Amino acid sequence: KKVVLAYSGGLDTSVILKWLQDTYRCEVVTFTADIGQGEEVEPARKKALALGIKPENIFIDDLKEEFVRDFVFPMFRANAVYEGEYLLGTSIARPLIAKRQIEIARQMGADAVSHGATGKGNDQVRFELGYYALKPDVKVIAPWREWDLLSREKLLAYAEANGIDISKKKNGGSPYSMDANLLHISYEGTVLENPANEPEEDMWLWTTSPENAPDSPEYVELTYRQGDIVAINGVAMSPATVLAELNRLGGKHGIGRLDIVENRYVGMKSRGCYETPGGTIMLKAHRAIESITLDREVAHLKDELMPRYASLIYTGYWWAPERAMMQTMIDASQATVNGWVRLKLYKGGVYVVGRDSDDSLFDPTIATFDEDGGAYNHADAAGFIRLNALRMRIAARQKQKRG
Ligand code: ARG
Ligand code: SIN
Repeated sequence: KKVVLAYSGGLDTSVILKWLQDTYRCEVVTFTADIGQGEEVEPARKKALALGIKPENIFIDDLKEEFVRDFVFPMFRANAVYEGEYLLGTSIARPLIAKRQIEIARQMGADAVSHGATGKGNDQVRFELGYYALKPDVKVIAPWREWDLLSREKLLAYAEANGIDISKKKNGGSPYSMDANLLHISYEGTVLENPANEPEEDMWLWTTSPENAPDSPEYVELTYRQGDIVAINGVAMSPATVLAELNRLGGKHGIGRLDIVENRYVGMKSRGCYETPGGTIMLKAHRAIESITLDREVAHLKDELMPRYASLIYTGYWWAPERAMMQTMIDASQATVNGWVRLKLYKGGVYVVGRDSDDSLFDPTIATFDEDGGAYNHADAAGFIRLNALRMRIAARQKQKRG
């Protein structure tokens, strides 16, 4: 019996590790991923070794490029936004963790996987839907739903009794439940649980407040190829480097703070605060490049499907067939989404100030109010409007007749 645990190296997952050894008497394989959470991942190795994990059972992977290239960028091709606001920063990372965990399970001949998400949230659903989709016979162990260490005191007592270091404060002492990766950082819990309370300014870790942001705007030019950013200010960059650089620029100018109450899949409303500086810039810019390169009906159809696609990702169905189907359609639409967008970043705002493309559908000779080359005949508009008005005229006549 072998289990692969998604292991951060923190207190909670260290307790889980020990609990798995004690409760299930099984061999534990730890998996720690760097997805740009901004914390060192190497220390997890020493902690796992200290808890008796064999060196060959410790996996530490840098997944930053895969995360942005195969998950974040495809999602941004859809302009995905959940409930009109949330850019899905946590949601989009879970399917990748699940995928890598299952790969390791296969490689190591493990029959079970385990994670540290609670029994009240979305994350448990996202992890486990991913596990089952990729390994239908897998056994899932979710300690938070099984054990009796539900209070902080009990957890700390268990840790102390088992020699797990509890001195280092979680999240550097921040009271919030946080989750970070290259796309975002999230805050939930404690004072935020009352939606009426404004968060303290020092909660926000990635962005300066808009009021303290630089007094002069900064211009940035993004180059697109098939819907993805491939260069910033003319410098070609890898996907993860693009996102890291946009996070830096957005953070400096106070861009991408969000404070919302959202509907969790498991049924409750939950208040969360998010910083998504690079993602906020990407969404605005992608819409700008699509505005000149996509056909009207293609763009509108994408917009109709977008909330469905965003819900799929929020609720954990990344590996489901309908997500794959929608992705195929979205990706096909991006063939012509090439060109550049120029933006102005200023005190919390992202402003599009220019865009151009060799694939542009914008035709100045047609759009102009001056004499045009003949592609658009003003007289055609009269018949176009009269035919479109026909059913309304019939209805109006009926109404008149009835008096
Ligand atoms: N509410 C957000 C979501 O469902 C963020 C969840 C954060 N997860 C965490 N383990 N702190 O995507
Ligand atoms: C958790 O319960 O692990 C975090 C919150 C969520 O998943 O929505």
